[in-house]
Amino acid sequence: MSRKRVLITGAAGFLGSHLCDRFIAEDFHVIGMDNLITGDLRNIEHLFKLDNFEFYHHDVSKFVHVPGELDYILHFASPASPIDYLKIPIQTLKVGSLGTHNLLGLARAKNARMLIASTSEVYGDPNINPQPESYWGNVNPVGPRGVYDEAKRFQEAITMAYHTFHGLETRIVRIFNTYGPRMRLNDGRVLPAFIGQALRGEDLTVFGDGSQTRSFCYVDDLIEGIYRLLFSDYAYPVNIGNPDEITIKQFGEEIIKLTGTKQKLVLRDLPVDDPKQRRPDITKAQELLGWEPKVTRAEGLKITYTYFKSLSPEMLSNVAHKNFETYNK
Ligand SMILES: NC(=O)c1ccc[n+]([C@@H]2O[C@H](COP(=O)([O-])OP(=O)(O)OC[C@H]3O[C@@H](n4cnc5c(N)ncnc54)[C@H](O)[C@@H]3O)[C@@H](O)[C@H]2O)c1
Repeated sequence: MSRKRVLITGAAGFLGSHLCDRFIAEDFHVIGMDNLITGDLRNIEHLFKLDNFEFYHHDVSKFVHVPGELDYILHFASPASPIDYLKIPIQTLKVGSLGTHNLLGLARAKNARMLIASTSEVYGDPNINPQPESYWGNVNPVGPRGVYDEAKRFQEAITMAYHTFHGLETRIVRIFNTYGPRMRLNDGRVLPAFIGQALRGEDLTVFGDGSQTRSFCYVDDLIEGIYRLLFSDYAYPVNIGNPDEITIKQFGEEIIKLTGTKQKLVLRDLPVDDPKQRRPDITKAQELLGWEPKVTRAEGLKITYTYFKSLSPEMLSNVAHKNFETYNK
């Protein structure tokens, strides 16, 4: 029997590369697509030797063509960290809107099921905690984070419209903060930032007074939730994340303990519209998918720290953010 064929956009990124690994392990034919704006081919270079993996270097905000049949499309291409999307706001809006539209068109032409990577950021700075899928959010459309949050909200809306108007099979996952190997050390997200600082012997920077909360999900748990959602028959958004909530200050202290660094936490000004709390209500995922996270923060952090420690000194000392010059159009 011929293999099922899946297109994964954002394949060279953190989550996309783990998805490629999972679908390869499940014996799919995986077609990765990425323009490498925030991704890195090193995340998937181990797959290039396989005959059931191929890769297209392509910007999905432009017309997308893939020869042959497609059974599934997983749209994960998008800048995902505040540092990235604040530097490339137009590209972020385009990949969430034009990119999603292109891929929905492709899904329709191929009669493929499409799953989109949405985010807890659709809830903005939430007024309720934890956040269930029924909460509509508290987003500032014209604040600096609006480019990401509104792109993702539009992405959900157009995906739903293709589902109701064209009868396309669609799935929407709202991903909460996820961590694990292959995150970029310099992407500005709190976990790699803390670990990178500890490894370089620098103080750990906390924005605000550190009382804001986050809930961190280990990547393997997230991928399992996404896999189950894709093969469910549920078209409305589903939260996937770990409800184990922690303040950023406590989290910094955990990283100090884990890494054994002699450095301390230092406080800096809080960025504009930074959410004060983040915790998924995962009742729906539990009931619909029989899913809940299995990896504790202690276990996940240990694996992630081991990964970061294995990076070359050159990668560790590279604190410069990605150079987006050639993409800034
Ligand atoms: N990591 C998280 O905690 C998290 C949380 C919520 C949502 N998400 C969503 O998951 C997806 C993946 O996030 P990630 O953490 O892996 O980020 P990432 O930056 O590591 O990966 C994104 C990938 O998309 C690629 N890309 C961006 N724009 C593109 C375009 N126009 N055409 C082709 N490729 C493009 C990048 O080069 C990169 O490889 C994103 O859609 C993000 O919004 C992630």
